[in-house]
Amino acid sequence: MRKITLLGTGFIGNFYTTVLLGMRSRDEIKMVCSATMEEAQKFAERYGIPRWTDNIETAVNDPETDLVVIGLPNFLHKEGVMAAARAGKAVMCTKPLGRSAAEAKEMLEAVEKAGVFAGYLEDLVYTPKTLKALESIKAGALGRILWTRSREAHPGPHSDWFLRKELSGGGAIVDMGCHCIEIGRNFVGKDVRPVEVMCWAATQVHPIDAEDHAVGLVKYANGAIGQFEVSWTFRGGMDLRDEVAGTEGTIWLNHWLRTGIEVFTSAGEKGYVAEKAESNTGWLFPVGDEANALGYSHMFVDQLDALDKGTQPMETFYDGYVVNAIMDACYKSVETKKWEPVELAIWRGADDTSDGRVFTDFNDEFYLIKAEKMPDGMTKTILKNKKTGEVIQQVRKTQE
Ligand SMILES: NC(=O)c1ccc[n+]([C@@H]2O[C@H](COP(=O)([O-])OP(=O)(O)OC[C@H]3O[C@@H](n4cnc5c(N)ncnc54)[C@H](O)[C@@H]3O)[C@@H](O)[C@H]2O)c1
Repeated sequence: MRKITLLGTGFIGNFYTTVLLGMRSRDEIKMVCSATMEEAQKFAERYGIPRWTDNIETAVNDPETDLVVIGLPNFLHKEGVMAAARAGKAVMCTKPLGRSAAEAKEMLEAVEKAGVFAGYLEDLVYTPKTLKALESIKAGALGRILWTRSREAHPGPHSDWFLRKELSGGGAIVDMGCHCIEIGRNFVGKDVRPVEVMCWAATQVHPIDAEDHAVGLVKYANGAIGQFEVSWTFRGGMDLRDEVAGTEGTIWLNHWLRTGIEVFTSAGEKGYVAEKAESNTGWLFPVGDEANALGYSHMFVDQLDALDKGTQPMETFYDGYVVNAIMDACYKSVETKKWEPVELAIWRGADDTSDGRVFTDFNDEFYLIKAEKMPDGMTKTILKNKKTGEVIQQVRKTQE
């Protein structure tokens, strides 16, 4: 059982609270902190939380709590983490860990020096569908992972601070690229070093300095490529999709808009439809259990169980730091229009850079490249001569 200080009672604070109080049914939030006393009190009363404040230091040092959960805007993550480290309390921080790798590294070093548990709350790698996909990948169902693709797109964020670069650290890349990059890393394998990045970004719609649209490629040491697509310009709700392709298979995941419930209403849905839904009439795509579909439930079970057992959660501050380093390289690449190296002052994965390619033998003389049944009833077999390197094809009547 954990007694929790929750910092931030906005959009994510609400999700975290419903999950923390409902999931294991043995954890309690004893103190909450918001920007104003009024907001904090209202939130505390809604969830039956005994104490509230508008002061981060006071909240973290609440004598009864042993875990600090951070759902503050990006510019306050470091303040919350540093206060938790000073207080010697376990800490879990929402995404992105920092506004830059330098900030994330300071946080990582502070918690490690203090010897406190530090979990990175990257919910989207914990969705039931993603966990199932990771299981299949681990079991070898897809062979060697070659390409991942992750997209998060919606019409824009719900609070002013997201749109102010100095407070958020950037636009759509920092806000949503962090999710997509970490999903890609999980599929490729976190042990594999991200080496370089190519990224395009632009401000296409909103009157802001930060980018509202970006597409990037993350190249890994084993040759795998992780593609991300993030946008605050997308119309039609929230598009959350992932793909992963390997030598032996492919997985496509669709987390939103088409989750199995499709509603048509001419009268109009009176209440909330789904995160970032743009309409309440016509065809609607609600979500049965948002907290579960977005991974929050499995995330807190993993994080809290790890804390209880003294083990590492699936997502740690180190992961948050690596993600920030990749995003820093993205911003550099947007400026230079070139591939930019991912600068990782701390690397804890493997140093192996082999691509693991293995060719399929056709016979002693040839490798098999491909065999395909053609519409005319023939099968084409494409082969490579092992000695000469020559590529040839054999055309034979398809054997039934
Ligand atoms: N899928 C996800 O994991 C996910 C989704 C949304 C947001 N987030 C992250 O959660 C964090 C918060 O985002 P949000 O959408 O909840 O923002 P929000 O604007 O809805 O809420 C921000 C909260 O922080 C509080 N706050 C602001 N300044 C404060 C201060 N000086 N002291 C104490 N409290 C203060 C506000 O009172 C408010 O409760 C961000 O880092 C964001 O990236 C994560």
